Amino acid sequence: MRLLFLGDLLGRAGRNAVIDRLPALIVEYSLDFVVVNGENAAGGFGITEDILRQVLGAGADVVTTGNHVFDQREALVFAERHQRFLRPANYPAGTPGRGSGLYMARSGARVLVINAMGRVFMDALDDPFAVIDRELAACPLGEQADAVVVDFHAEASSEKQALAYHLDGRVSLVVGTHTHVPTSDYRVLPGGTAFQTDVGMCGDYQSVIGMNHDEPVRRFLHKVPGERFSPAEGPATIAGLTVEIDDATGLALAVAPLRLGGVLAEAIPAFPTPVP
Ligand SMILES: [Fe+2]
Ligand SMILES: [Fe+2]
Repeated sequence: MRLLFLGDLLGRAGRNAVIDRLPALIVEYSLDFVVVNGENAAGGFGITEDILRQVLGAGADVVTTGNHVFDQREALVFAERHQRFLRPANYPAGTPGRGSGLYMARSGARVLVINAMGRVFMDALDDPFAVIDRELAACPLGEQADAVVVDFHAEASSEKQALAYHLDGRVSLVVGTHTHVPTSDYRVLPGGTAFQTDVGMCGDYQSVIGMNHDEPVRRFLHKVPGERFSPAEGPATIAGLTVEIDDATGLALAVAPLRLGGVLAEAIPAFPTPVP
């Protein structure tokens, strides 16, 4: 099966680029399953139910999030009724919503998606390694799940890479989100798990991690807040990762970045060719 993961939607520029282009991408690349991180889709902070519906309507199978999940307070309510909306699984017990789900891909494969958050330079949460191990024990690859996708929303590269090697051979993909900067280390690990330290954002890269650069620069220079952060609204780059998954094993055959539009767009292969 062919899977596409798209990084954090950043404001109007990022979400509209994805909503506009995703339907054609699904057809063009015969995508069986699409996961989109939507934690910054509403003005850079959180996501509204209306935007969630638009992203799902464009063809996303699941929308994951991270530390900004509840910035729009309505998410505390709609997180409960949308099966295809995930918040980090290692939030405290009793937090609204869910951190994982089992979904049917267009190919008929059963795809387990787990969203978790790191703890290095981030809020104190339950141990993501242990929480993901519990999720996998309940729904192992090759048994109840034909593919497993882990969106690990974390700041530290080391934590993301450690999780990837901890899960190597037990999941199809570990992909990092949150930093909004794509790393060039996409690869298949020895055990067959596809991995990229961070997939980047879908947004205007002529910015400081998606925000108009004036205010972030001001705060670094003067250490006092001035205006609110506002999302950069120039042409967005869609940044994602494409993975070819072996239907028999659920492990990755090939992985490649996808970058379309905006200042980061380059002639990067849009979809991997499977290993014969
Ligand atoms: Fe983000
Ligand atoms: Fe984040």
